[in-house]
Amino acid sequence: MAFPETRLRRLRATPALRGLVRETRLSASQFVYPMFVEHGLEGDPAHPTGRAPIASMPGVDRLSVEQAVAEAGEVAALGLPGVLLFGLPAEKDADGSGAWDPDGIVQRATRAIKAAHPDLLVITDVCLCEYTDHGHCGHLRADGTVDNDASVALIARTAVSHARAGADLVAPSDMMDGRVGAIRAALDEDGLSDTPIMAYSAKFSSAFYGPFREAADSAPAFGDRRGYQMDPANGDEAVREALLDVQEGADIVMVKPALAYLDVIRRVKDATAMPVAAYNVSGEYAMVKAAAAAGHLDERATVLETLTAIRRAGADIVITYHAKDAARWLQN
Ligand code: PBG
Repeated sequence: MAFPETRLRRLRATPALRGLVRETRLSASQFVYPMFVEHGLEGDPAHPTGRAPIASMPGVDRLSVEQAVAEAGEVAALGLPGVLLFGLPAEKDADGSGAWDPDGIVQRATRAIKAAHPDLLVITDVCLCEYTDHGHCGHLRADGTVDNDASVALIARTAVSHARAGADLVAPSDMMDGRVGAIRAALDEDGLSDTPIMAYSAKFSSAFYGPFREAADSAPAFGDRRGYQMDPANGDEAVREALLDVQEGADIVMVKPALAYLDVIRRVKDATAMPVAAYNVSGEYAMVKAAAAAGHLDERATVLETLTAIRRAGADIVITYHAKDAARWLQN
């Protein structure tokens, strides 16, 4: 049947009708809130509050461990299921040894948050770029390229140390080949077979990470990440990445960034039938905040539309700096 018997506007007439046939719904239970924890912010006279604002990401601060615990409490009270932790260590070195230090910043923050808010999920980003003095995500060879297999060993070691500290899930974001399998084996060997892996499976080499690299002080000192992160042009390869991670034991697969990659989210969801996370990254957040501050966009409407689109594309979980605001907006 076509027009005039069929009129799609019939079901758009009132809020109740629209609600009845809405295909995609948002709930705070689907969002994960990323947080940056910085060594030395406690007791720093330059930051008496234990917080350091990130200029390009209004509303997001780098946090002392104490402030991270407080913020985690706010997150839990809003009904959000979890946080994703990034660390800024005391010192950086060639191999990023701060990443697997049992007393490292993420390990300390994880212990403190779990002690204060045991039901909140602590997910840890597993990567070396915030810990290496050169800012790349792994061990460098003499020629400046990243040595895959040497890096995988360090990344697996990092994941185990996070899980030992109490991380509920570990989330490798380095894009080395074989790291999910290596992490699974290392966790299992350490008696941590119940710790799930949320793999950054299709992580693209993206300009949208700019504000994050300021926030986490993790920009590569030379070159770029195209030798390990994916080419934004490739969709088939993203599906291969996700399928390989599933084979290696990933429990959740991720697509990152989200907005310019909605087609990839859909393809990965259809191809894997796995829980899919999408990372609504720092540059996506910064764009909305800047446009809203300039009066060009309605922030609330834009964010809720964006999050809905990411979910409609096939994401079960959305990692987003808007999580706290969105949770509040969904309450009223
Ligand atoms: C670490 C990592 C990055 C992001 C998450 N984990 C940066 C990068 O790969 O350069 C980006 C997150 C964001 O932009 O919000 N490898």
